Amino acid sequence: MTDVDHLGDIATRFLSRRALLKGAAAVAAFAASPLGALTATPARAQGSASLTFTELPVAPKNDPDQYIAPGYRADVLIAWGDPILPGAPAFDPLAQTAAAQAGQFGFNCDFIGYLPLGEGASSTAQHLASRNSARGLLGVNHEAVKPHMMFPGLADSDAAFAAATAERVAVERAALGFSVIEVARTDGRWSVVVGSPFARRISAETPCAITGPARGHARMKTPADPAGEIVIGTFENCAGGVTPWGTFLSCEENIQNRFAGAPAKLPPEHAREAASAESLALRTKASWALFDTRFDVNLTPHEFNRFGWVVEIDPYDPAAMPKKRTALGRFRHEAATIVAKPGKPVVCYMGDDQNYQFVYKFVSARPYADGDPAANADILDDGTLYVARFRDDGSGEWLPLVHGTGPLTAENGFDDQGDVVIDVRRAAKLLGATETDRPEDIETDPITSRTYVAFTGGTDRKEPGPAMPRAPNERGHIVEILSPGTDGERDHTATGFAWDILLLAGHPRAEAASKGVYGPGTTDAGIFAYPDNLVFDPQGRLWIATDGGRQIGIADGLWACCITGPERATTRHFYASPTGAEVTGPCFTPDGETLFVSIQHPGDQTGSSFDNPTTRWPAPMDSALPPRPSVIVVTREGGGPIGS
Ligand code: FEO
Ligand code: CA
Ligand code: CA
Ligand code: CA
Repeated sequence: MTDVDHLGDIATRFLSRRALLKGAAAVAAFAASPLGALTATPARAQGSASLTFTELPVAPKNDPDQYIAPGYRADVLIAWGDPILPGAPAFDPLAQTAAAQAGQFGFNCDFIGYLPLGEGASSTAQHLASRNSARGLLGVNHEAVKPHMMFPGLADSDAAFAAATAERVAVERAALGFSVIEVARTDGRWSVVVGSPFARRISAETPCAITGPARGHARMKTPADPAGEIVIGTFENCAGGVTPWGTFLSCEENIQNRFAGAPAKLPPEHAREAASAESLALRTKASWALFDTRFDVNLTPHEFNRFGWVVEIDPYDPAAMPKKRTALGRFRHEAATIVAKPGKPVVCYMGDDQNYQFVYKFVSARPYADGDPAANADILDDGTLYVARFRDDGSGEWLPLVHGTGPLTAENGFDDQGDVVIDVRRAAKLLGATETDRPEDIETDPITSRTYVAFTGGTDRKEPGPAMPRAPNERGHIVEILSPGTDGERDHTATGFAWDILLLAGHPRAEAASKGVYGPGTTDAGIFAYPDNLVFDPQGRLWIATDGGRQIGIADGLWACCITGPERATTRHFYASPTGAEVTGPCFTPDGETLFVSIQHPGDQTGSSFDNPTTRWPAPMDSALPPRPSVIVVTREGGGPIGS
């Protein structure tokens, strides 16, 4: 395209702006400054390989089917309702029960993690060392329930609330949480291993241990759990992460959707939460509270504090209780992305997906013990939680969220570190952290060690801010964070960083705040909006899944993006989802030859329902089935790495 701004233009603009700002010298302290990253592109050998696949043309919204780039195939691996546990019945959409759902794949799949299973391996270390790309465990989040897409006879959300029953709510609780499934590739085709001893469902009914600073805290105690140590359930599990010690991190996001109550009647600590975060929902339509008082914040005020955490799950031990790692803070969690180097503290990057919320990282107190999973088992319980402050000059710092430092004292309602992690949004704001535009996923490039944050959009934003260049931010953007060091050798534990914009999503020919900016060679098909989940392939290409493409008239999908070299920020269209869906959880096998993707809420759009859906994907022609959220498996015809 000739009328498109490319990153050279953006670099020039940022450069002239920065030259006027004090503090630019701080940026120069880094070996690879963000300006350098844009103006002097590193050699190809240091960065991402080229993308050579044939691009999928622009895919309009409202198509009932999915599409993939030529030369690839996208097969459904598992769909909502498919049996997972021994004895679970086949899916019967007209007669779903809680007992059936408890053994079946949950609704609205999101994050996917892959951990290998080694042939003949008998320990987690052996499984991990195998790096097996033909047999492994998938950990999958189940983010949300939509009753009018799950049950017959409900026209929309209002009708669903009016018709709520205890049994239906029990199905919803069983459909959320997390699934572990064993998958294997035979003759190039993937399938779920039926009867696997690793198969597991974790739901809103599963006991989870509370660990870290909020364990046993007064504000975590309830009548059912006077010790404040075990909470029943995890739900609204959106994005997540995989640890190199063989666990999944599942992140609780929109927990406020499940609670009801009146803000004026809240006890002081909840009034504080409501004032700080507006998040206590107070959603009169939270139907769970109709049948269980623990979801009514007026009656059980502390239950709400027991959700909004990162949950660590050991899939190699199906009997292991999930652990809510409270040292990582409580908010609407998205990614939990681990960077671990032998002998160095473990770093976990996280985002809080709401307008004006923050980007966080956790740095463990203990060093990472490579090759010794047991030694890292509780490494996320002790360490320092930080929140990001971005500066206008391209630098930034990580501010410690530590009780007793700065404003985080009893005077401001923080009596201990438990109070800090429970009310971490309020603590972060007091410290002066940068309010951002809905950080969704965060990933670190395995080759350069640079870190990327997808800001999915900030429609409420009134003024541009550091690293948030558009107001309102109606299409989202991706920011690059450079920890000190050089490509391949960056210190993620440091408290300083540099940042720059990788790309601005949206159409390049749109006006003002909606105008997109990409790398050279990006075609019309390469344009997207609302970057959400991210993943790197082994060759250092960034894959971007979207949630909101329909607002620029295209199907949500998957785009691949080069990071370094002359094609930096050039994006290519790879996959388009069926109407109503968003694309989530992309995940590669270690060899990069298989890509798993969650297709969440197909057919979920205005006027659509279980009875009259806009698509019945993944069985578009089967009038007996509703649309079903599904995990697809993408491979290349004849084999080989995805994307090249
Ligand atoms: Fe569940 Fe923020 O997406
Ligand atoms: Ca998400
Ligand atoms: Ca990711
Ligand atoms: Ca999203």
